[in-house]
Amino acid sequence: MLKAYIESYGCQMNRLDSELVMGALAADGYEQTASMSEADLILVNTCSVREHAENKVWSRLGLLRQPNHRKPGALLGVIGCMAQREQEVIFRRAPHVNLIVGPREVMEIPRLVRDVRDRQGKQRATALGLDGEFRYARDVAQRPEQHHAFINIMHGCDMRCTFCIVPFTRGAEQSRPLGDILDETERLVADGVREITLLGQTVNSYGKGLGVALAEAGVVVPTDGVGPGVSNVSPVRRHAGDPDLADLLEALNGVSGLHRIRYITSHPALFTPDFFRRIGALDKVCEALHAPAQSGSDRMLKRMKRLYTREAYLRFVDFARAAVPDLALASDFIVGFPGESDADFEETVSLIREVGFAQSFVFKYSERPGTPSTNLPDDVPDPEKKRRNNHLLDVQNEISETLNRELVGRQVEVLVAGPSKKDPSRLWGRTRGHRIVVLPPLPGPASPAPGELVVVPVERANATTLYAGAPVESSATALVPA
Ligand code: SAH
Ligand code: F3S
Repeated sequence: MLKAYIESYGCQMNRLDSELVMGALAADGYEQTASMSEADLILVNTCSVREHAENKVWSRLGLLRQPNHRKPGALLGVIGCMAQREQEVIFRRAPHVNLIVGPREVMEIPRLVRDVRDRQGKQRATALGLDGEFRYARDVAQRPEQHHAFINIMHGCDMRCTFCIVPFTRGAEQSRPLGDILDETERLVADGVREITLLGQTVNSYGKGLGVALAEAGVVVPTDGVGPGVSNVSPVRRHAGDPDLADLLEALNGVSGLHRIRYITSHPALFTPDFFRRIGALDKVCEALHAPAQSGSDRMLKRMKRLYTREAYLRFVDFARAAVPDLALASDFIVGFPGESDADFEETVSLIREVGFAQSFVFKYSERPGTPSTNLPDDVPDPEKKRRNNHLLDVQNEISETLNRELVGRQVEVLVAGPSKKDPSRLWGRTRGHRIVVLPPLPGPASPAPGELVVVPVERANATTLYAGAPVESSATALVPA
């Protein structure tokens, strides 16, 4: 049996792509190995979102050039966003690479590997086209987690945030047909999955172009989002017959045996009050929302082309929370964007406090070749970016701790994941709001099984973890979503 090794950098979508590639390779007789040096096929799934991520890959490719790090004759493939962006350069700078595959073509990898093996030379697949439907069937048994699965619901991104390379590496938005997603979910649930996370760059623009018949009729539906609405750069417009994310969530909410549904990531300018009214009624859709604000300064938001103001963001938070009480909001922030002054940065600090995010991911601005923001001087010095980054994380930590402590004495629903890594005598899981909960050691018969929902009282909390008492009942009733 041949062995394949895969290494993933970057976002959850890459993690899922790696999983799907491994599943597809299994059908070609490959088994996965955790050891690079014994693999017959080495794949590096890359990220281009910041320079640092690309540098890590270049150094991996340098290492793999030395013969002692891989089996003689082992094939090497570079896949994902950096493969798309740097295709020529990689073949030139790393002649030991046999295969280059962009993010849109990863399901072609088994065939391309066969072609390389059949002495057809190096292979490259980097199409970004919109021709054909975005459909695929996955082997649901090939997955790393027993009770949770990621599901890809769309390719690409039609936004043009000025700092972002993703629309260039992943191409235009294309949604996967609703029936395809529903079918995959049903098969995953039949195989033991209890929680799914739908993945896309802007999942709340899901569905554009899927209602083809009406699209052909030329019916265009105006959006009533808080921002200017759906991006006008897309080759595909939203039409009356297109399903939207709420339609998809409603359909998935009906899958019996499934406990929870999450979806990441959303663009704040595309939400409508109606969306939250609809999903507020769906019991499986978790009260958690990742809708990156990026900055709290209108000046920066405009330069970033985020299509909303600070005030519009706060309005969206209000209508979302009005329809979905206890909604746990998460955000991404970029610090040190070109021209960001101390005052701009302070606006971001105050936005974090005003919204009370449950979690924030903070990134130092990294200039990406070819993106519109390269026209602006990258003028915040790195030590200052670092300072802002650390300060924002400190503020977020303080808020997370306060919010978590407010839960002490309340009951939360936990989906049990498995034994805690730090202390295997305890189980851990997550709340509906995606907070980590550690359970006390429980004697055999009282111990819930991974994949089960339990309700537990929160006894202690810090910024990252809730510590709970023994389960009080085994099914979810009146409790805090948290
Ligand atoms: N739509 C995706 C965006 C992918 S990039 C999502 O929202 O998940 C993920 C995050 O990386 C962005 O939200 C942004 O905060 C950050 N990011 C993107 N480009 C960046 C850049 N050039 N420099 C620093 N951070 C960046
Ligand atoms: Fe990037 Fe903005 Fe799309 S952050 S992925 S261009 S929504």
